[in-house]
This record gives sequence, structure tokens and C-alpha cells, in this order.
Amino acid sequence: MAKADASHGPNTRLGHGGNDPMDYYGFVNPPVVRASTVLFLDARTLIAEDQKYNYGTHGTPTTDALCEAISGLEGAAGTVLVPSGLAAISVPLLTFLSAGDHVLITDSVYGPTRRFANEVLPRMGVTVEYFDPLLGADIARHLRPETRVVFLETPGSNTFDMQDIPAIAAICRPRGIVTMVDNTWATPLYYRPLEQGVDIVIHAATKYLGGHSDVLMGTVSTNAQLWPRLYRGHMVLGMCVGSDDAYLILRGLRGLGRRLAVHQESTLAVARWLEGRDEVKRVYHPALETDPGHAIWKRDFSGAASLFSFSLRDGVDAHRLLNALSVFGLGYSYGGYESLAAKVNLADRTLKRADAEDTLIRLHIGLEDVEDLIADLERALIAARVAAPDDLPAAS
Ligand SMILES: Cc1ncc(COP(=O)(O)O)c(C=O)c1O
Repeated sequence: MAKADASHGPNTRLGHGGNDPMDYYGFVNPPVVRASTVLFLDARTLIAEDQKYNYGTHGTPTTDALCEAISGLEGAAGTVLVPSGLAAISVPLLTFLSAGDHVLITDSVYGPTRRFANEVLPRMGVTVEYFDPLLGADIARHLRPETRVVFLETPGSNTFDMQDIPAIAAICRPRGIVTMVDNTWATPLYYRPLEQGVDIVIHAATKYLGGHSDVLMGTVSTNAQLWPRLYRGHMVLGMCVGSDDAYLILRGLRGLGRRLAVHQESTLAVARWLEGRDEVKRVYHPALETDPGHAIWKRDFSGAASLFSFSLRDGVDAHRLLNALSVFGLGYSYGGYESLAAKVNLADRTLKRADAEDTLIRLHIGLEDVEDLIADLERALIAARVAAPDDLPAAS
């Protein structure tokens, strides 16, 4: 049976990537191989470890199927699986940084990435510096002779700033600086950083790839040049995953394209509706024409995800708003079938922003009927008004 390849559309590739059913009696899905021990045929193969599988931490047919599917989607030479999205950040940073090195990290990075960078990397003798996500080719001004890694996330967490990835990669690659992108928001369906000169692509597969809020995993993919180092770095750290979890992510992948299309359509409807509300100061979503990152999003991405923020005007109370929601759950994740809301803030930013003191609500728009989501938000926004009616314009 022919495997789907780059000549096929994304949904065909999602449906047929990874395992070949004919490798396992024609069953459509791969077996879930739960494994620690692997037996060897004889003394020679045992000593030389000369067979495809030799121990559970190094992979199974189930984890391989997922790795192959992700590599195909990203256009990568190889992919490793790790137990969480956060591990997909720590493993490549630990692999490519050493004592004396300098790492540049975008200031709108996912909070726990910052925590890892601040609490672990300095203990290893690595100097950490945060940069303005919008600086593009001006990153050159921050490079030092000892800069080894530039860590990117686009759009950035909570404020959804778009980074000019091709411009940054073009500065870094000739200097041998490894660029890493956390691509969780866009998924490989809507953005492919390796095609724009990036070296390492990271996903919290926990989110859209799994899609059902029932599994934690991370993936790290890279090009042919860095693959041996990434593979070795992953192996020595022992950051493996179980085959049951890999199976769940592979299952989630099959319908990813169709899910994302609904997420995208509903999200834009909600975001546009919020832009017209008097309780809302600003909506942060790069697919909106009003967003400062819109031009880069349009140039580099082929679609938009479901996670975005909006800030509240004075006189609108975030706690009341959250407590009044009934279809939206309150929670910090995203990418699942169910809508979520959370209060976020920009207090962890290193660089000062004009909106630093604003109250931000972050939404993940799930697969529910969008009319129900808008009705839920409308009720909650009205309930959240604490200012006297004269101080706040009437709801539109
Ligand atoms: C951009 C981004 N990267 C990584 C992660 C970490 O994923 P996990 O929760 O699987 O550790 C998250 C989680 O919210 C995220 O938003």
C-alpha cells in the first residue's frame, strides 16, 4: 500500500502517515506495543545490539509510527517523543547548550519555558537573555560570540505576537546558531518552520495533536544535520514515552485537519464578535486584520488556531466574567474539543509593554456550536460589568 507523501493534501497525509497497515496483517492502526525488555536472537546480535529494536526506552513500533507521521508533516529528518510539551522544550535546550553559552529567548515565551530557562540553565553556566519578539533581523544586535541557541515561539504566549522567523533564521544559520521554534499554536498543518530555515521544531502534542485533553506528550523534530545530536541527546536523558500515549496522539492526528478547520472558523467568529463589544479593550489574535502581526501571519501561515486573548476595559471584572461562564470551562490548556477560559497576565515579561497592567482573558474555542459560545460570553460580559452604566458604554 502506497504511503501518503508530500504530493498529497494535508488530510490525506494525516490519514495515511506513520504506520503501514500491511506491516501488521492489514490492521488499519498500529499495535500498541507495551515494552521494556526486547529479546535478541543470539549472542552476536545481543552484543552488537544489531536489530531494529533493542530496549523500550529507544522506541517501539507504536512510537515509531507517530514519529514518522510527525516528521512527514513537518518535513523533518527525524522526531523524538517526550513525556510533555515542556520536556519538548527542555530536552533540546539541554542537548544544544553547554557551560559558557548564551541563549536568546523570545520575551513572549510560554511561562514554564521561562521558568526552566531561569531556574536550570544558569546552574549549568548558560547565560539567558530575553528579546523583543518583534525585532526580526535586529536580533543580530543581541548576538554574542558565545550565542548558541535562539529560542522562538510564534505566535507568542498570551499576547500572540508574530515573529519574523525567516529573518531571524537567516541571521542565525550562517553563524551556526541553532534556532528552535515552539510551533504548538499553529501545528504542522498551519506552519512549517523547517521550510523557513529553522533547525528544531517543538510541539506540545498535548494540545491540538492529541485533541481530546486526555494525554500529555511533546515532540521535537529536526533536519538531517542536527538529527544525530538530537537523537543522542534525547536518548541519554531517558525522556521516553509509553506506547499507549503515543497511540492516543496518533489517533488524534487522523482528524486534526478537520478539527482545526472548525476551531479556526468558530474562533474567528468569536474574536470578531468580541472586537465589537464595549467591555473589550483589545483582541489579540494574528488572523484579525486589526492585529499588528497580521501581515506576518498572512505571509507565513496557512491557517489560524483557536487560542487567543482579549483585554478588559476598566469597569469589567475578570473574576465575575469567568464565574459567569457555563459552556466554557476554566482551565489553562487548549487544543481539545472543549472550550476553555483563563485569566492571564503579563507580569512575567522582562521587557516593558504598554499593556503590561491590562487584565487579559485567554480563550480556547472548542468544537461546540459557536452560537452557544457567543451566548455564553455575552451573558458573562454583561455579568462582569461593575462600573456604573454611565461609565461604560451600552453593550452593542
Ligand atoms: C506554547 C506551549 N508550549 C508548550 C506547552 C507545554 O505543554 P505540556 O502541558 O504538554 O507540558 C504549552 C502548554 O500550555 C504551551 O502553551
